[in-house]
Amino acid sequence: MEAFVIEGGLALHGEIEVHGAKNAALPILAATILVRGEMELVDVPDLLDVRVMMDILRALGVQVVREGHRLYVNTETLDTNIVPEHLMSQMRSSIFLLGPLVSRTGEAVVSYPGGCSIGQRPIDMHISSLKKMGVTIHEYGGTLVAEAHRLRGAHIVLDFPSVGTTENILMAAAFAEGRTIITNAAREPEIQDLARFLTSLGARIHGAGTHRIVIEGVTRPAHVRLTHRVIPDRIEAGTFLAAGAMTGGDIFIRGVVVEHMEAVIEAFQQSGTIISQDQGGLRVIGRRPILPLHKVMTSPHPGFPTDMQAQLMAHLTLAEGTSIIVETVFDGRFRHVPELVKMGADIVVDYHTAVIRGVQHLEGARVKATDLRAGAALVLAGLSAEGTTTVIHPHHIDRGYETLEVSLAALGARISRERVATILQGERN
Ligand code: UD1
Repeated sequence: MEAFVIEGGLALHGEIEVHGAKNAALPILAATILVRGEMELVDVPDLLDVRVMMDILRALGVQVVREGHRLYVNTETLDTNIVPEHLMSQMRSSIFLLGPLVSRTGEAVVSYPGGCSIGQRPIDMHISSLKKMGVTIHEYGGTLVAEAHRLRGAHIVLDFPSVGTTENILMAAAFAEGRTIITNAAREPEIQDLARFLTSLGARIHGAGTHRIVIEGVTRPAHVRLTHRVIPDRIEAGTFLAAGAMTGGDIFIRGVVVEHMEAVIEAFQQSGTIISQDQGGLRVIGRRPILPLHKVMTSPHPGFPTDMQAQLMAHLTLAEGTSIIVETVFDGRFRHVPELVKMGADIVVDYHTAVIRGVQHLEGARVKATDLRAGAALVLAGLSAEGTTTVIHPHHIDRGYETLEVSLAALGARISRERVATILQGERN
């Protein structure tokens, strides 16, 4: 077992470059199997969830080779539509395979997806949308068998603008018969990136990035050869931003698309952080006092992203006054709270609402990463705490950040990855 060991209290300084977005890379990787061809994907982050998706593609017979941050994918050799259960259970995003596999092969056999334990994460909207498009789906003891001789365009109205469902429909609709309309579609930047990728496969998509997306089904191309660059990761950038803000640092984050981050920038500015846009990046200067935020509600894009909620909360633990955060996207996404409390934070949770009373300082403690963003929040808290913080289970953090400890160390943080056995041995000596 591993842990991040952090000596807190240092202000971060320097420059950092953002990696490609995990949440864009995953659906795009799934979408490669829609067609036969050779595709080069640029700026694909090297992190756990992407490795699982690469393993899934390989299990389907697809050739995937990584060279640095480039992936070379050859989908000519796809030879099965059964996704192995042990891979499916490792990551929720494996549900993305459903649409593309049915589209290309007429059938998909998958099990219920796994992923971060952040409350209820049903797949009912994915299923009902694909059913509307002519897919029959049966469940046999946890295994889903989806079949469709022909995918048909449909008008799909989503109850909630689900990111994954919107992406699954986009992929299923690209080469379906006729027109698909998605009403109340998700508007996240990653959806626009997927739409750009599908368009370069030949798809005709209008309105990606708005509430209404129209997909005119086209004939699948015989062969495709293309290069696609994945957009920068706005959540990784937001996490660096929080690190600069919380530690009272002065950092420059390169490669940011500012329009993707407006709600996050605004929230941190309101809390007193100085943020300016400068030559393809953001300069972040953390200032004291941190001002409390009276009410931040997470919501679908362009609202404040749920994937930044834990990191913002870590920041607000040090505010001069009381802040309120309401989590509206996921149930059970406050698992960082008891861990932050172990570090001296004053937070009370009532169902979807967290009340954060700012404290003078946080203290280093032994804490546990329970999911990806909760883990990131604990690292941030550790950077600004007095003394040593040990964050166990960093594999949760590795699912979404490429060597976070290396990036933060480059900004002057004292953080390292250790084996827990070595830490305990050191304590005994
Ligand atoms: C994606 C992101 C994740 C982010 C989330 C919300 C990826 C790989 N992951 O997850 O990082 O936190 O968007 O911005 O892009 N829901 C249902 N039924 C469904 C589908 C979703 O009830 O069939 C619910 C979910 O339980 C959740 C809400 O809808 O409460 C939002 O989920 P969704 O937007 O689908 O998130 P993901 O695509 O899973």
